[in-house]
Order: sequence, then structure tokens, then C-alpha cells
Amino acid sequence: MEKNKILIGNMKMNLTYPEVKNYIDKMKNYKDFIICPSSLYVSYFIDSGFNVGVQNISEYGQGAYTGEISVSQISSMNIKYSLIGHSERRHKFNETDEIINNKLIKAVSNNIISILCIGETLEERDSSLTKEVIKKQIENDLKNIEESLYENIIIAYEPVWAIGTGRVPSREDIEETVKYIKKIINDNYGFNPKVLYGGSVNENNINDLKEIDNVDGFLVGGACLVPDKFIKIIETIN
Ligand code: PGA
Repeated sequence: MEKNKILIGNMKMNLTYPEVKNYIDKMKNYKDFIICPSSLYVSYFIDSGFNVGVQNISEYGQGAYTGEISVSQISSMNIKYSLIGHSERRHKFNETDEIINNKLIKAVSNNIISILCIGETLEERDSSLTKEVIKKQIENDLKNIEESLYENIIIAYEPVWAIGTGRVPSREDIEETVKYIKKIINDNYGFNPKVLYGGSVNENNINDLKEIDNVDGFLVGGACLVPDKFIKIIETIN
């Protein structure tokens, strides 16, 4: 197995402040991952020495955008990572590829390492459209990005139907799709992106998943919220 897999925890809109304090305490000896907490709690994680990312950034610059967080605000906190285009943003908040492209341009231009999330719905998969959907997402999301900024992009392959469902594609399917993602990016943009897998990764399946050759790491939702589970994942991939 390749060493140094990238591990990212996406806490989504979970945990109260007392729970965050307890989490930070439990995880203090395991900081070899990137945590994306609710924005409200970002500074607690930073002050406790964790590598922090945000779950989303605004497509706009500073100004009258109530509830949004700008890329310059993120940079000013020395935050180095952002998820972009998570499927919940795409499907629950109607983020189009155009919006995601705007966000990605803003983030990478400001040297934020951006984890661009892509993946097919169950309907698309059942219609054998996985590759087509992924190709389109990549083409649309990577538009007008300067070549010199490609190094700021990490891809997370997250089948929508695998997120939070306990369902995971077969090893062969993940391997094939990740290979395809790397190939089209290599062929069309000339760089070799790191590609993570996300979708129901947990302390029980990580042992199998870590053996998939071309997967460079994992984006973990539910299982990152429970210190014992996440520690098991951390220990398994290290
Ligand atoms: P999950 O979420 O691990 O709970 O499936 C992954 C994600 O949404 O990034």
C-alpha cells in the first residue's frame, strides 16, 4: 500500500460546542488529517493545532452577502483547504457546475487547496452514465483555470448514492472510476491529480478500501464524527 494517504473529515452541520470541545480533546494525539468543521468552530480547531479546511466558500468577493464566507476571509485565517462542490451543495443547495467553477477559480487563485467533489447519482449509475457524468463535471468545473494553479486541485470521487447510506461501490468499480478520472484529467489538462474516495468510508471497510491502488486518500463524513471510529481509520491507513 502506498503510504501517506490523504485523510479528510467532513463534519457537515454536526456537533454542538460542548461536543466539539470533547472531540478536540479526544483527537489531540491524532492530528494527521484535515478536518472540515462547521465554520463556527474553525478557530477552535486551528487553536488546537489541527489542519483545517472549510466545507464551502462563497463564489463572491467581499461585501453584502449575508451568511457567506469569502476566500479572502479564509486565507486571512491561514486556512489552506476547502471542499468545493460537495454533492450536498450540488443537490440540496442547487449549486450548478457554473457556480462550482466560479468557486474553484476563486479558491485555487488564492492558493487554497481545493477538494473538488464529483460523482454520479444512483439514477445516473443505473443508466450507465457514471463516466459521462464525471467527465462533464470535470470539464465544466475546471473551465478557465490557469495551468499553474492545477497543483491546488484534489479530486474527491464521491458517488452520491454512497454518501451516508452505508453502501460502497465494489473495489473494482472504485478503481476503474478513479483510473478514468486520472486519465481524462491527464489527457485533457496534463496533470496528475490526487484522487480521494468518499462515501460511507468507515472503520470496518477502510482495511479493504486502503488497498485500492490508485486511491490517494479518503473523504470521510459520518465516521469522522466519532473519535473512536476515526482513530481506527487513521491507524489503519498509517
Ligand atoms: P459519509 O459522507 O462518509 O457519511 O458517507 C462522506 C461525505 O459526504 O463527504
